[in-house]
Amino acid sequence: MYLLAVAIVSVVPALCQEETYNYQQEFQPTYHQNDAYNPFFKETSQYKEEEKLQYSSFEQINHYLLDVERLYNGTVKSFEIGHSVEGRPIRGIRISKNPGVRKPALLLDAGIHAREWVGPVVAQYAIQQLLANASNANLTDGLDWYILPMLNPDGYVFSMEHPPARLWRKNKAQTFVNYCSGVDLNRNFDYVWGGPGSSDDPCSTNYRGPYPFSEPEAVAFGRFVLSIAQDLRMYLTLHSAAQAILYPWGYTNLVPPDWQDLDALAKKAEAAMSLVNGTRYHVGPTTKVVGLGAGGSDDWAKGAVGIKYVYTLELPGLFYPEKGFHPPTETLPIIAREAFEGIKVFAEHARNRRP
Ligand SMILES: *[C@@H]1O[C@H](CO)[C@@H](O)[C@H](O)[C@H]1NC(C)=O
Ligand SMILES: *[C@@H]1O[C@H](CO)[C@@H](O)[C@H](O)[C@H]1NC(C)=O
Ligand SMILES: *[C@@H]1O[C@H](CO)[C@@H](O)[C@H](O)[C@H]1NC(C)=O
Ligand SMILES: *[C@@H]1O[C@H](CO)[C@@H](O)[C@H](O)[C@H]1NC(C)=O
Ligand SMILES: [Zn+2]
Repeated sequence: MYLLAVAIVSVVPALCQEETYNYQQEFQPTYHQNDAYNPFFKETSQYKEEEKLQYSSFEQINHYLLDVERLYNGTVKSFEIGHSVEGRPIRGIRISKNPGVRKPALLLDAGIHAREWVGPVVAQYAIQQLLANASNANLTDGLDWYILPMLNPDGYVFSMEHPPARLWRKNKAQTFVNYCSGVDLNRNFDYVWGGPGSSDDPCSTNYRGPYPFSEPEAVAFGRFVLSIAQDLRMYLTLHSAAQAILYPWGYTNLVPPDWQDLDALAKKAEAAMSLVNGTRYHVGPTTKVVGLGAGGSDDWAKGAVGIKYVYTLELPGLFYPEKGFHPPTETLPIIAREAFEGIKVFAEHARNRRP
């Protein structure tokens, strides 16, 4: 376990080195040109075999959310929390078996960092497993799910449609430097904003923006979280590619007073994940595993909103040579299944806790 930690720490600087990425070897997104096609869903009665999992475009993600709303009318409600800088909608769904009755809730998001394409794959896989796989029916008993697969549409579209921008991480806001655009949305949240691990330089990939919650994407998400905060028992945010389960804090080397509760549950989730294919994920506080980064949605959710159980699930990627943010399509089923096994552990805990 400790060796794994050392390995992760030693490769993490590569995350910030956009220049060293070999664009020539990068392949084009393999998503279908027809926007209405989504690899996750074809027919009502039949969900796609997971062997066919693949990356999806922004349009496909949105179509998917509307499709499942239509197909699971009554259980699924789609919603829009706001718009990106360039005006794209930021959408999510609520899965609630008995929408009239208040229940504990779990929030799962992905895509706040544009280049981390595997996050939205896992979020959509989770939706599919929750709705179409009868074995998972009890995960939606007594627990409401809020799932937002794409928090940063502009950055995501940019990273997909402009191959030289494959490693774009930020949104597409203009800054006070003409030739450097984009704010790192995961440094823009209003909890110890401006702290270590965030930059005041618009040309940095960690640029935190001019002031806390300066970005419409972060504002929309923040408002949405506050609107459901009373029911939220768990917040899970999908990132890649450090292969880890992280809990606060990201702004300091200190840990919250209840860190042992978070650590114990994360280790339980990791154990379940490792059973899928033997993959081990590092578990620990953000700062210890991947380094400082103030202004993240996770710190904000715990520190400002007061959600006890907050985790960043860093999906794998680094250990596939030269495919850090682009694990080969054939590895997506295992990555998705591993993540979902962890999500299941978190969900059962969220449901069983008394409000
Ligand atoms: C869900 O069903 C209701 C009542 O049958 C209908 O009015 C509504 O338009 C449906 N919603 C969707 C998204 O299909
Ligand atoms: C359905 O869920 C069960 C339990 O989580 C899992 O073992 C099984 O592989 C899933 N089936 C499919 C086709 O995804
Ligand atoms: C949910 O159902 C699955 C499969 O039917 C079972 O393995 C699991 O223990 C159940 N979980 C709970 C909390 O009831
Ligand atoms: C799954 O395990 C096999 C055997 O250890 C390994 O070769 C493969 O790379 C693993 N796949 C993933 C996606 O981790
Ligand atoms: Zn990230």
